[in-house]
Amino acid sequence: MHGDNVTTSFDDAAQVLLPPEPGLRYLRTTRAGEFTLEPGGITASDDGRIAALEPTTTAGVHVDATGCTLLPGLVDCHTHLPFAGWRAPEYEQKVTGVPYEEISKSGGGIASSARALRETPDDDVLAQAQQLATEMLSQGTTTFECKSGYGLSRDGELRSLKLARGLDAHVHQTTTRTGLLAHAVPNGYTADTWMDEVEAMLPEAAEHADTLDIFVESIAFGLEHLDRMGALATTYKLRLRAHVEQFSTMRSVPIALKHHARSLDHLSAIHPDDIGPLGESETAAVLLPGAEFMGAEQTPPAQELIDAGAIVTLATDANPGTSPIFSLPLIVGLAVRRYGLSTREALLAVTLNAAYVLNLQADLGSIEPDKRADLVLLDSPAEHVAYRLGHNPVAAAFVAGKPVYARPDAEWRIARR
Ligand code: NIG
Ligand code: FE
Repeated sequence: MHGDNVTTSFDDAAQVLLPPEPGLRYLRTTRAGEFTLEPGGITASDDGRIAALEPTTTAGVHVDATGCTLLPGLVDCHTHLPFAGWRAPEYEQKVTGVPYEEISKSGGGIASSARALRETPDDDVLAQAQQLATEMLSQGTTTFECKSGYGLSRDGELRSLKLARGLDAHVHQTTTRTGLLAHAVPNGYTADTWMDEVEAMLPEAAEHADTLDIFVESIAFGLEHLDRMGALATTYKLRLRAHVEQFSTMRSVPIALKHHARSLDHLSAIHPDDIGPLGESETAAVLLPGAEFMGAEQTPPAQELIDAGAIVTLATDANPGTSPIFSLPLIVGLAVRRYGLSTREALLAVTLNAAYVLNLQADLGSIEPDKRADLVLLDSPAEHVAYRLGHNPVAAAFVAGKPVYARPDAEWRIARR
């Protein structure tokens, strides 16, 4: 593939996903239909930016996009990378009827991934994460979030954030770091005393993360801890996100909105009275259909959220427990079927709105002049992403205009002139 700095022209695409206007921070899902999917081309300049929403004949590299779709690089705004090992036996327990709460109380779940992380050397953790990042790239993900949360000790959480920073240097993708510092209550602590520990580690943790996260659930942390995490986020000038209303209706939403959370994730069990305020806010609703499908969880009220004006976003929730899924095309397919989303609604949810969740919307998430030329070439019309469930539609992926992945049958499309 051609790695040096040249102008690249993407020619003759059957569809190019373009936003209705430049400079959007996010787009409420009700407006997703304003995205266009018309034939066209793109020019990426030699510095990796989108230079024009049309092809050029004078480029050093031409990408033959005939019959293909051009999307902005996909953004996976909720993953639990890096982690160590897998938990396949738990999945078998789960499908044979053992509830997640029970698996978790008997030493499985988050605690077992914490043990694995503790026992695995840095290089091995990084190697596993790097391999998964390569797999994600082949499925069109050019940006993803990393989270701590399997450290479950001060040193463990800080190590996890440092490993995430180390991963960034070894992958083609743009990555971000979130401190999920309250994920499960570690042995020897109560939720309250662990939050004291979180407060004590924050001066250092804040140097490695731009966002704080917390798991609010009957088996994890409560509303008062969410409130405290929100206050800590403000003090340390970090964004707040939270895993909420996944299994039980906790009424986390009003507290998170008070703290202007950037996103609330899961929401399967959101209280009906909380849908309206969330929909009116600038807090994104991150839905995770992979975790819902694998855990046979309740389906969140996606249509009601959309009708209320929500900034609906989709992500893999990639983790070794609830969602060992790394493919955004698969997530789009599940979301379209389960939530009744249109193709444009689902694509908005894994591009611009996902970039907004990670605060990268000024540079990434949509195809518009001056943004970075992170692009995905699909082998089919955009509607096929959801329709051909399980097929990987990604023919090639580009970061800053340069090809970083090409499926063997698509290599011929990228040619130097
Ligand atoms: O997002 N909900 C809590 N945390 C993760 C699962 C973590 C695990 O089971 O390892 C989630 O689903
Ligand atoms: Fe998660």
